[in-house]
Amino acid sequence: MTKILMVCLGNICRSPLAEGILRSKLPYEDFVIDSAGTANYHTGSNPDNRSITVGNKYGINISKLMGRQFSVRDFDDFDIIYAMDGSNFDNIIRLARHEADKAKVKMILNEVYPDQNYDVPDPYHGGTHGFENVYKMLDEACDIIAEKLK
Ligand code: 4NP
Repeated sequence: MTKILMVCLGNICRSPLAEGILRSKLPYEDFVIDSAGTANYHTGSNPDNRSITVGNKYGINISKLMGRQFSVRDFDDFDIIYAMDGSNFDNIIRLARHEADKAKVKMILNEVYPDQNYDVPDPYHGGTHGFENVYKMLDEACDIIAEKLK
């Protein structure tokens, strides 16, 4: 079983989409895929309607996912932790207890653009175009991740 955690700030826009997209590309018996936010503002909330809508457009249903905050226990529960942006990355690394925890944390777009540390831009304060853009970036990254892990 490979366990993968997607992490953004609020766990309502980017990381639920990343979770749903990756899940759609991997055999579900062999993978645990989850998402979390570094902040707790949206604990217990379903994803942002704009993320749900863009997911639906491409056949990915994330409407029932529920926000939760990243916790130190996630370092024990997951093998790979993907941060959506550099701020998420720094916030996760700050909670790491040792090098083995840190080694699990990666920038998701480095799967597409190795070592570039590009951000998946936070779409929360923008319009629907931002969500379409986020979807495309995550779909490309998840294609590469799924190919590597399958
Ligand atoms: P996410 O987007 O990190 O992709 O879920 C955000 C959602 C909510 C907020 C910021 C970013 N917020 O400030 O409430």
